[in-house]
Amino acid sequence: MPCPGEAPEADSFLIEDQMQQNEGGQRELFNTRLGFILAAVGSAVGLGNMWRFPYVASEGGGAAFVLLYILLTLAIGIPLMLSEFSVGRGSRLSPIGALRKLGGRRWSLLGFMYVLTGFIILAYYSVIAGWVVRYCIDGILSGFPSAPGDRFAQVTSGWPPVWYHLFVMGTTTFIVSMGVQKGIERASLILMPVLFGILILLAIWAATLPGAVEGYGFYLRPSVSELLDPRILSQAAGQAFYSLSLGMGCMLTFSSYLSRDTDLNREATVIAFSDFGVAFVAGLVVFPVIFALGIQGDVSESTVGALFIALPGAFVAMGTIGRVVGILFFVALLVGAITSAVSLLEVVTSSVIDEFKLPRRPASIGAGIVIALLGLFPAMSLSILSVVDKLAEAMLALGAFFMAVFVGWVAKNAADELRKGASERSRRMIPAVMVAVRFILPPVILVVSIFGFVAVWRTYLAEFGG
Ligand code: TRP
Repeated sequence: MPCPGEAPEADSFLIEDQMQQNEGGQRELFNTRLGFILAAVGSAVGLGNMWRFPYVASEGGGAAFVLLYILLTLAIGIPLMLSEFSVGRGSRLSPIGALRKLGGRRWSLLGFMYVLTGFIILAYYSVIAGWVVRYCIDGILSGFPSAPGDRFAQVTSGWPPVWYHLFVMGTTTFIVSMGVQKGIERASLILMPVLFGILILLAIWAATLPGAVEGYGFYLRPSVSELLDPRILSQAAGQAFYSLSLGMGCMLTFSSYLSRDTDLNREATVIAFSDFGVAFVAGLVVFPVIFALGIQGDVSESTVGALFIALPGAFVAMGTIGRVVGILFFVALLVGAITSAVSLLEVVTSSVIDEFKLPRRPASIGAGIVIALLGLFPAMSLSILSVVDKLAEAMLALGAFFMAVFVGWVAKNAADELRKGASERSRRMIPAVMVAVRFILPPVILVVSIFGFVAVWRTYLAEFGG
């Protein structure tokens, strides 16, 4: 039960909204609607869209997979995002405090799990973002290497990945330490349009390549047989959580900085479609490039290799244009990765701020340092990184499962919260959302998380066993 002493009256929210300041213990707020949307899209759009999606989709059955993915985004992604929004804006607290306030002490444990998941994901996410920095520098200073496989081995071994990881963590910590408006919102307002612009340019250019049609054909071949495999279904759902930043209180935290007059239903729809759009367009860039050079064989080996070996190889073969295009591609990827890293660190930081009543700066720097240290392990071992990647996905599914159970069956006020600020049209979708949250999400997501933990075990055995 919410503690009555803690719940401010309706008009005190209005006063709080108008102040939009953090001074005197007031919660920070996003300044504009666009600022919030771009920050949330910035969180969602990242390595998951440009690195993972195209390959998962092409392995999972092409166009059929893309359709399945859209369906899952609508039927599961949006209701889950709205669940997080209702808890975040309803409590105006970060995950631990929010779940404690709406569900009592026991549910605050879920908040702790979210923070732990944040630590784990950011620790390895930042390592991969570090490689991306290295590729940007490669492209700018000397052009992409002609032996991309060897270069990838160099980039991922020894001390350099550690330094680049620390650089990414430093940048991320700096943005988060500046606060919601001056740091996160401002960075997103500048960076996200850059990413969209670059990606659209690249997609137009890719359409002119000789391999374009073949590339699209492979990416979007309508192969239905793969879809019957339950592992593909669970992979698509896992990819959807990961890509939409769901299952660890990230959207919950961002929505805690929103005012009551925001139409949550509309925002969730915009965010989900933008995220899908970027993932889809990334595929329209990647596959023509690969088919233009006939290197599809190199790609199916591993997703890691796909982006960091096959693409630079393609860029180098295309001469000067390839170099320019390659730099743009990796810069866009870096932008996506940084804004996602920011959102991950924000979950941890806001929890530290709320739980320990610390100011933002020490909270963010402290959290950043601990995660930077934790990231030393995946920075030094690709095997650890692969296992942690799977672990992250499984933990997200578990976190999503409990969120759906919480909002559907424990916290009774979610529908009311979603109604605040909603337009007529948005209100009409609320009953369907609640039915999905109660009856569809829990069983489906439970299965996904079980598959997820099995995949962790499999990967662990593949990397370390025997
Ligand atoms: N969604 C991001 C991506 O696609 C990664 C990410 C950022 C994330 N924050 C998250 C994933 C929170 C899960 C939860 O790359």
